[in-house]
Amino acid sequence: MAGQPIFILKEGSKRTRGRDAQSNNIMAAKAVAEAVRTTLGPKGMDKMLVDSMGDVVITNDGATILKEMDIEHPAAKMVVEVAKTQDEQVGDGTTSAAVVAGELLKKAEDLIEQEIHPTIIASGYRLAAEKAVEVLNSLAMTVEMSDRNLLISIAETAITGKGAESSKKLLSEISVDAVTSVVDTNGKKSIDKDNINVVKKVGGRVEDSELIQGMIIDKERIHTNMPQRVKDAKIILLNTAIELKDTEVDAEISITSPDQLQSFLDQEEQMLKRIVQKVIGSGANVVFCQKGIEDLAQHYLAKAGIFAVRRVKKSDMEKLARATGGKLITNLDEITPEDLGYAGLVEEKKVGGDNMTFVTGCDNPKAVTILLRGGTEHVVDSIDSALEDALRVVAVAIEDEKLVAGGGSPEVEVALRLQEYAATLEGREQLAVKAYAEALEVIPRTLAENAGLDPIDMLMELRSQHEKGVKTAGLNVFEGKVVDMWKEFVVEPLRVKTQVINAATESAVMILRIDDIIASTRAAPGPEEGMGGMPPGMGGMPGMGGMPPGMM
Ligand SMILES: Nc1ncnc2c1ncn2[C@@H]1O[C@H](COP(=O)(O)OP(=O)(O)OP(=O)(O)O)[C@@H](O)[C@H]1O
Ligand SMILES: [Mg+2]
Repeated sequence: MAGQPIFILKEGSKRTRGRDAQSNNIMAAKAVAEAVRTTLGPKGMDKMLVDSMGDVVITNDGATILKEMDIEHPAAKMVVEVAKTQDEQVGDGTTSAAVVAGELLKKAEDLIEQEIHPTIIASGYRLAAEKAVEVLNSLAMTVEMSDRNLLISIAETAITGKGAESSKKLLSEISVDAVTSVVDTNGKKSIDKDNINVVKKVGGRVEDSELIQGMIIDKERIHTNMPQRVKDAKIILLNTAIELKDTEVDAEISITSPDQLQSFLDQEEQMLKRIVQKVIGSGANVVFCQKGIEDLAQHYLAKAGIFAVRRVKKSDMEKLARATGGKLITNLDEITPEDLGYAGLVEEKKVGGDNMTFVTGCDNPKAVTILLRGGTEHVVDSIDSALEDALRVVAVAIEDEKLVAGGGSPEVEVALRLQEYAATLEGREQLAVKAYAEALEVIPRTLAENAGLDPIDMLMELRSQHEKGVKTAGLNVFEGKVVDMWKEFVVEPLRVKTQVINAATESAVMILRIDDIIASTRAAPGPEEGMGGMPPGMGGMPGMGGMPPGMM
């Protein structure tokens, strides 16, 4: 029996073990972090991503870049996951999270070379992360919802370097006003982002963007005889079309005289009139219809002085229902006055050459819309993603009421405290905690590098300031100086920083603990890939293996 190989894996499976597995994974994860590093900070660059359909995205947002990159390596995907989680949880700090995760793994690699076991590194990293969060909490300062200026600074910090520089102030003000007007103050403050609508309109300048207390529907009224403004709007939200239903059976009507034809047409007209009458009878003076409205019906509605819009998007109908307190109506026979929504004013206005419908003074004041303007579609899209970050950080700051300074200051402070903490530990974990501290300094170092500053000089200066007790000393990347970030109003929500620590640590630890990678072949590899990808000696029966499933 000796010499007979035993195969426990399916043919074509690939296996990498031990050090090889570790270094492969670490290399892949580091490469991902490296890919987004140059976008970090106010002086970070953007990336242009072109997908397989030729669509172009220009962005600076870590999570977006990694998502669009379509990464395949399993360990690299875990780092992408870190950025994604960061995005879901706080909306900002996605680049930082990926960069820190990569740096943690780089430091771990050095430790592994010094024969320190990965599980020791993992447990040291966990201790360090716990301590780091503790330090961050101790650094945090309180922000009140009423402190509009401070909230604007938070938004500005998030937008800095995101291609919205010229209109940073305006966009920050808009985000703060939008978020503060939808805060639910019952009990713990919470923000439902669904209450903030963003309508993008190409044309005009970014500075023309504005916040509307209400809704905007990107449609115009269907008949010029309809009023352009309706005050005290009683709104009916129709799910159904205002037209005669086509019969579903194939019926044939034979008409033998012109009179008969006329009476047939008259009858149709009467039927349509009856339908419109139901709408008018409901007491509504504004109609939003998700489906079509027939020409003749438009005429009747206009005659009755009703403002009507048709083919409204389903999502907009739902938002209108929320905002105006109206119900979506499917059956015209069952309308009651309570089903109608209310708005102080419904008005058609021209925006960028197109007419749009503005619904303001709504029943539910917690519905606001941000009208975003910009010269081209790419400009509007990039402003939109910057605005998204601003809205999220402001919301997080209001919910948590906790802030830290930015510009690399918390990372340097935490690193310093971790070095002190490491000294109190016995055993090899001490080395891991030290490595963790060094890894966090990748943030100030990268901020300096991206701004063309000398990272070593800057780090030395930062450390010395922090040792002197200036806990908020950070990098002014524009002037190349170390300054008090709090005084510069570079502030970020605490949650952004704690989430970076937690997410980056978890994924680094997870990757570190892997020492065996078993990858099965794809379900249906292409002929070349299938043949080439077969590692020798790993196939099934000798002489029989080597044939990928798709080739049989
Ligand atoms: N005016 C400023 N001066 C110095 N540092 C700043 C300034 N504004 C922001 N920063 C710092 O830049 C870093 C954030 O950079 P950036 O927004 O590019 O990446 P991110 O927030 O990690 O990820 P995302 O791509 O999700 O925004 C933070 O460390 C922040 O403190
Ligand atoms: Mg950011």
